[in-house]
Amino acid sequence: MIVILSPSLLSADFAELGRELRDLEKAGLGWLHLDVMDGAFVPNITFGPPLIKSLRAQSGLFFDVHLMIEEPARYIDAFVAAGSDLLVVHAEADRHLERTLSAIRAHHCKAGLALNPGTDLGVLRWLAQDLDLVLIMSVNPGFSGQTFLPASIGKIRACRALLDSLGFSQVVIEVDGGACPENARELVEAGADILVSGSAFFSHPPYASRLAAFEAACQGQRRSSAALAWKTQEARLV
Ligand code: DX5
Ligand code: ZN
Repeated sequence: MIVILSPSLLSADFAELGRELRDLEKAGLGWLHLDVMDGAFVPNITFGPPLIKSLRAQSGLFFDVHLMIEEPARYIDAFVAAGSDLLVVHAEADRHLERTLSAIRAHHCKAGLALNPGTDLGVLRWLAQDLDLVLIMSVNPGFSGQTFLPASIGKIRACRALLDSLGFSQVVIEVDGGACPENARELVEAGADILVSGSAFFSHPPYASRLAAFEAACQGQRRSSAALAWKTQEARLV
């Protein structure tokens, strides 16, 4: 039924962001993945709330904001005010995750938890009730264009099984890093509801036909995703 494709802004043309966002919407995309990096949690620096606020003024896309920053709780208010629809924090970056996730939801923003490739799923057992989404990193965070880590497939499958066994089937799974039409089907079969794609998406314009390539790869998959209801009209059905 569905998978949502969330193109990562990191691979867009930064000198033409307004045009890029318009092109994505025209091509039928509903989500945008925004990678925030602080040069401390990850070895790269990108952008913060001011840029997101400027883009929000021009776009109706669902803003899926991935915070690769230390102590993200310090900036929750600022990222909500900038227009984020979903805030994803890293399990490795925050000592008080339950408080941070609850603070995100208190703003009526969706809350997500990201796990680095080496981070165990066990933390989900105690936080599932505070989550709308789990982001499985399928590369080490910091850069786009890296090679997909094959162990991520088993981790996605185990994550889906764990969430279902805990009674949290509505919590959706996003996969980030190295996704492309060639591995999209396997990712969705394993349990992914949302695929992030940076380099493999933006390097193959026009965007409508690249989206169609991801869709064709996932054809026939029958998954249900609570995330569809978050932004029903814009979400793209596969
Ligand atoms: C990596 C970022 C990803 C990245 C994805 O740290 O979180 O979102 O931009 O890019 P690709 O799809 O090229 O791996
Ligand atoms: Zn990301």
